Amino acid sequence: MNRKYRKTVIAGNWKMNQLASGVKPFIEELKEHMPKTRSCDVVLCTPAVMIPAMVKAGKDCRVAAGGEDVSKFEKGAYTGEISADMLADVGAKYCIVGHSERREYHHESDSLVNEKAKALLAKGIAPIICVGESLEQREKNLTMEYIAYQVCAALSGIDGTQVRRCIIAYEPIWAIGTGKTATAEQAEEVCCEIRAVIRRLYGARSARAVSILYGGSMNAKNAAELLAQPDIDGGLIGGASLKPADFATIVAATAQG
Ligand code: 13P
Repeated sequence: MNRKYRKTVIAGNWKMNQLASGVKPFIEELKEHMPKTRSCDVVLCTPAVMIPAMVKAGKDCRVAAGGEDVSKFEKGAYTGEISADMLADVGAKYCIVGHSERREYHHESDSLVNEKAKALLAKGIAPIICVGESLEQREKNLTMEYIAYQVCAALSGIDGTQVRRCIIAYEPIWAIGTGKTATAEQAEEVCCEIRAVIRRLYGARSARAVSILYGGSMNAKNAAELLAQPDIDGGLIGGASLKPADFATIVAATAQG
């Protein structure tokens, strides 16, 4: 973390878990465990149908609401899609794009991820852009090359002012939902490279202003060590974000340093 130059962000990704009716009880329990002073922004990204409940309940606990996906289209005949305007209208401040589960199960390409990020920026929502290598890529020593490519593709056409509103989440695919966390050194090495890519594209000032998160089996036990790394500015948390006490422990872990 480097709080001097950029925000620390702890974001949960509820994926397709929980129900809208579960939001209020969750936040009430979270409130009991949350540290009194806060050293980071806290956001819970949920399916769109839960965002209004999250906005309402989250106010009490300084938790912002976020989406998990967005349409690249602004409006029109796109049955089933949810636009950035709709997310903004119900109070979402953040939205995940390019999660590996969407890339895999919905065949989302890097250029689609880029279009979605731009759609969000146009409506004042901060995109949380996910990148990450597969185990095969890591074993073939292709991690850095692939991550650099993904970051460049996701940021294509985004200008130097807008990039500071983007959040990049490094989520190695092999660490998601597997209980197999990247070591702090592995995670820092890639997050540092992501910042170097942004520096090459936008210069040093922008690079040091962008928050880069780590995601992949981050939990109450390993969060502090990961967050102690200079280029890891927070976490994107799946499983542990569904447990109020664990999520609050991760938030508390940002108080170090
Ligand atoms: P887990 O924390 O469950 O590994 O999920 C990480 C993730 O995919 C967050 O987007």
